[in-house]
Amino acid sequence: MTKSFYITTPIYYPSGKLHIGSAYTTIACDVLARYKRMMNYDVFYLTGLDEHGQKIQQKAEEAGITPQAYVDGMAVGVKELWQLLDISYDKFIRTTDDYHEKVVAQVFERLLAQDDIYLGEYSGWYSVSDEEFFTESQLAEVFRDENGKVIGGVAPSGHEVEWVSEESYFLRLSKYQDRLVEFFKSQPDFITPDGRLNEMLKNFIEPGLEDLAVSRTTFTWGVQVPSNPRHVVYVWFDALLNYVTALGYGQEDHENFDKFWNGTVFHMVGKDILRFHSIYWPILLMMLDIKLPERLIGHGWFVMKDGKMSKSKGNVIYPEMLVERFGLDPLRYYLMRSLPVGSDGTFTPEDYVARINYELANDLGNLLNRTVAMINKYFGGQVPAYVENVTAFDADLAKVVEENIAEYHKQMNAVDYPRALEAVWNIISRTNKYIDETAPWVLAKEDGDKEQLAAVMAHLAASLRVMAHLIQPFMMNTSNAIMEQLGLGLDFDLENLNLAGFPENVTVVAKGTPIFPRLDMEEEIAYIQSQMTAGKPQEKEWIPEEVELKSEKDEIKFEDFDKVEIRVAEVKEVERVEGSDKLLRFRLDAGDGEDRQILSGIAKFYPNEQELVGKKLQIVANLKPRKMMKKYVSQGMILSAEYGDQLTVLTVDPSVPNGSIIG
Ligand code: ME8
Ligand code: MG
Repeated sequence: MTKSFYITTPIYYPSGKLHIGSAYTTIACDVLARYKRMMNYDVFYLTGLDEHGQKIQQKAEEAGITPQAYVDGMAVGVKELWQLLDISYDKFIRTTDDYHEKVVAQVFERLLAQDDIYLGEYSGWYSVSDEEFFTESQLAEVFRDENGKVIGGVAPSGHEVEWVSEESYFLRLSKYQDRLVEFFKSQPDFITPDGRLNEMLKNFIEPGLEDLAVSRTTFTWGVQVPSNPRHVVYVWFDALLNYVTALGYGQEDHENFDKFWNGTVFHMVGKDILRFHSIYWPILLMMLDIKLPERLIGHGWFVMKDGKMSKSKGNVIYPEMLVERFGLDPLRYYLMRSLPVGSDGTFTPEDYVARINYELANDLGNLLNRTVAMINKYFGGQVPAYVENVTAFDADLAKVVEENIAEYHKQMNAVDYPRALEAVWNIISRTNKYIDETAPWVLAKEDGDKEQLAAVMAHLAASLRVMAHLIQPFMMNTSNAIMEQLGLGLDFDLENLNLAGFPENVTVVAKGTPIFPRLDMEEEIAYIQSQMTAGKPQEKEWIPEEVELKSEKDEIKFEDFDKVEIRVAEVKEVERVEGSDKLLRFRLDAGDGEDRQILSGIAKFYPNEQELVGKKLQIVANLKPRKMMKKYVSQGMILSAEYGDQLTVLTVDPSVPNGSIIG
């Protein structure tokens, strides 16, 4: 029987554009979902949106639209983002979905009937941003008036709190305190990272669990309590239930619930909401007589050099910008590689660009390129059959590969992605070193060793196949590209992975293309920084918009434009061409060693053509040369500006060196 694996992200508040923080959690779950699928688990991956509550109602008011219209718009944006990031979720839940709202109302009434919920009066502090209640002693900071009376404060998250005093239903957490402690004891590895479980015990449980307010009366955007419609269900009570309603709990079709909730249940959340998932959620499940989850991962945060990401600081990084500029795989790689388990990680543009250049382009990209090129050069593209241990280098490489595959699986199961990727990069470095050690270019010489050369090529190809497998859950595009360039199909077997598994009779592609661009570090760092500044276009909210360019010609891609090489060239000589009243013949210095000849049909605009001598013009330098007037070859094109019946050649400042590239 196949094992089932249920993995969930938090459902995010659609209260603004999602930044790389939420992208981190969603990609981290995606990696695990893909890994488990490759390990032949039956996986169900859930993500979605937490759409009720005071915060969303306020955002909608600010936007001047109904909360439903507001969340509908945001949901489109969030789904688009997950598509851009290639998130392989099986279901996207929205807490405004009908089936979910119905079950929330039912559950509330059931708990009321069984006296796990009771009516009372709540007075205390509330942070709308966190949708969380606080006692005075839990606040990070309090504000007092001149008499010392507390008049406000700040939650640990840094958000301001407001005073709330209203009739409220309460969830009888206190009654379940002992059972929760027992659960923690029986499942000591329930929470990752280690230590968090004890923190919960010490900070919240040992001092005595207080009952939790689970309804609000001062706004309406939520699930109504059927027996008392003045109340809407507290947004966290509503939200936590998504993990079971999404599977069909409490509904007619509950096949997924029976199957996946009875297998491994795995929640991944940020450290900020660990309390809700480790205390309130298990107790809610106990009240409903539902089995408890197996694992809860509370990961750290991505922060910036100047602290938390915040719009007011202007240091927020959005994933779209990084994907547009550098592609998807670098983003997935960077986020998974850079956040250590159990602590925060700092996002820096410098690291981002460096990891692409060194780890992706140099270490991995180059290795693939060199290997494909050598197999083409030495063996006409045919990968020689894999033979074990021709030399001691082979044996050592094989050992490193085997050890690191085992390490990779161990770390994937521990959800320690930085270490899992480190294991892959151990294989990559060892393989690069293997090329230096075996020096294939020497083996290829006439007095070399063709047999050993074959073994080396086979090992390189086999090692790259192993890498492509291991990075598949992280970087699908790169992994697929490696397989394709090696001449392999896209069928992966991660469970039985080894060097010897490289198939026979494989032909690599005739010409490999680089899988990662090499970046100009300074330029790209500056670009990311420029995009982080507050108020830049990337800050715009998700309003689906089609931008149409007003231009005479069809829209082109940057790559199309980038094919054109425009250079600065100085006019050395110019003369009218005999037999033509249109053409001028130029001799130009375009900084590329030899002078160029260009014929240009601009004679009638320059009756006194000698005025052009000494001017620095802009020319298209990589235009295919063509013969004109039967005897002159024109090696490029002079750029000019045309308006009506006027024409002027484009000059640049005399201080610009000849040959400068324009772009
Ligand atoms: O809390 N680094 O939603 P939310 C890493 N609706 N992860 C980050 C991050 C950062 N800088 N910022 C946010 C809620 N996250 C509730 C959840 S679940 C039943 C209800 C991630 O929109 C992190 O996983 O505030 C965090 O827990 C989540 O986004 C919070 O999302
Ligand atoms: Mg939050």
